[in-house]
Amino acid sequence: MELYLDSANLNEIREVAALGIISGVTTNPSLIAKEDPTVDVKERIKEIHTLVGGHTSVEVVSTDTAGMLKEAEEILKWLPNATIKIPMIPTGLAAVKELTRQNIPTNVTLSFSATQALAANNAGATYVSVFVGRLDDIGYDGMSVVRDVRAIWDMQGLPSLILAASIRHPIHILEAAKAGADISTCPYKPLMQSLKNPLTDAGLKAFLADYEKWKKEVEKVG
Ligand code: G3P
Repeated sequence: MELYLDSANLNEIREVAALGIISGVTTNPSLIAKEDPTVDVKERIKEIHTLVGGHTSVEVVSTDTAGMLKEAEEILKWLPNATIKIPMIPTGLAAVKELTRQNIPTNVTLSFSATQALAANNAGATYVSVFVGRLDDIGYDGMSVVRDVRAIWDMQGLPSLILAASIRHPIHILEAAKAGADISTCPYKPLMQSLKNPLTDAGLKAFLADYEKWKKEVEKVG
């Protein structure tokens, strides 16, 4: 399962990109709105793309098909490799259909059910983002949607890539991988938490202490 960073924060992206563990970044209007309002959004996203190099999802904010297509055209002028992120609404599906016809990659966002994912796939979506955490928040089992989508896709040989989004903690990353998501897009905190284990820290501390002790012994005898 590939990992993307779900962020528009340059410091986070720079730090995580340097680790070599992510192959893309997803942004959305809420993530952009958390950043400095004086920053030019286009420049920021271009910088993000330069830092990570791979997938960069850029979301439209129009809700009508013509508006979404116009925005996509604009986005592709300043970021030709962008994946256009489109909301899972009927007008969005029509935009996905047209962008697919033009061979432009799309990421259908705000998908909360397997039937929505199926519609997105049939419209031609390159990626379908299933929002796990937001379903958990309202008492549903978000990951069961990822599992259902994977099972349907495997049974029917459907092509859209399954992207587990709205990740809240490292267990979501683990469960997304077990559910067969192709990609998981994670905020900085759970992604960094997923790298840590207290036994790693304790083990490293012990290795270094033993090495220092041994070095002193060597110095004594030498
Ligand atoms: O980027 C889309 C999605 O991952 C948002 O997640 O945390 O706002 O539910 P969240």
